[in-house]
Amino acid sequence: MISETPSLLASSLPSRQSTGIEPFVDRYAREFSFYGSGKLALRDGLAVLVDADPDREQNVLVPAYLPDAVVEPIRELELEPRYYAVERTLAPDFVDLEQRLDDDTLAVMSVNYFGFPQPGLDELMAIVDDYGCYHIDDNAHAPLSVDRDTLLGTHGDLGITSLWKLLPVPNGAVLYRTDDAVIDRYEPSPLAGVHDAFDGRDYQYVLKSVVREALDVVPGARHSFERLLAGRRRSPTVPTPRQRYEAWKTPMSKLSAFVAGGIDPVAIRRTRRANFRTWVQLLDSHEGVDPVFTTLPEGICPQVVPVRTDSPHEFITELERCGVGDLHTWPRLSTAVRGKSEYETATRLSRELVTLPVHQHIDTTAIEAVGESLRRP
Ligand SMILES: Cc1ncc(COP(=O)(O)O)c(C=O)c1O
Repeated sequence: MISETPSLLASSLPSRQSTGIEPFVDRYAREFSFYGSGKLALRDGLAVLVDADPDREQNVLVPAYLPDAVVEPIRELELEPRYYAVERTLAPDFVDLEQRLDDDTLAVMSVNYFGFPQPGLDELMAIVDDYGCYHIDDNAHAPLSVDRDTLLGTHGDLGITSLWKLLPVPNGAVLYRTDDAVIDRYEPSPLAGVHDAFDGRDYQYVLKSVVREALDVVPGARHSFERLLAGRRRSPTVPTPRQRYEAWKTPMSKLSAFVAGGIDPVAIRRTRRANFRTWVQLLDSHEGVDPVFTTLPEGICPQVVPVRTDSPHEFITELERCGVGDLHTWPRLSTAVRGKSEYETATRLSRELVTLPVHQHIDTTAIEAVGESLRRP
């Protein structure tokens, strides 16, 4: 089965080519620190920018097409998260964005969706410059994506990336500090950095990885097991965005640091790119399913292959029949956005966009086999 995420057990020990995440990031970023989650990194970065004047009610502009919990650190700092509309290309709707900008705008956030550079980035940077506010470069999706020698996430005054979206680790993220003032004024909170010992979270993650691996050996076993567990939970409630933010408030785990320290970024990027190309090629003949990005610029390390379809649930069912697991539409939008007419495009994208896995532990031939199964009714 093709799984959504890479496996800790397949990640193996450092190879001779391994350089680890730290030297890789160090090559591109001026200053950076590790955190448990991208949201926590964002919190510490934003705290540097906040105006000390208590009478000022500042706002931060973020794209409407964004997972609901991402604005929690903004709220925690008593700033107003203000959503701007997006285009179907994932570029900001610049008319809408400029209408929402005002003298109290502290920062504007751009997002490098799925590992690709933010469409319309130059225009966004020009607007941010004109208004004299800060720019946050959210690169949660792809820690290894480099665009013309700039690591995504380091375009802004500050930026973030999530290591746990790339690697089989319990948590992990990076805060990039690019602007001089941000570098000078940065003060890490007690939750910055890496845990100095393995803890319960690490052991639980290892245990889960072993169980998942064991269940995947038997076709259908994982699905049945998850159904069984879901049945035992009386009312499976989804935690609120705030609860999810709080639950991930921790330094980066020691296991995460260990795994991230042993990776070969070049090999990971090569495999993800090959898998991306294979999906795009096989979907070329699949009617009604359109990849959002059809070209793969040099240096880009895709998180997934995002595809648009009018029938996401049928497509997911079809892929499950062909052995692709854990598929879903992306993301869970904020209630301030979902269904609102001013955010129609973001709402539509969140219903139509399915993400296909390309991670480094998928063998390209497994994706080719999916292509053959798709052709057989
Ligand atoms: C675009 C974007 N930004 C930020 C985040 C937050 O990252 P983390 O989950 O590491 O806190 C996410 C998480 O899904 C995301 O998709």
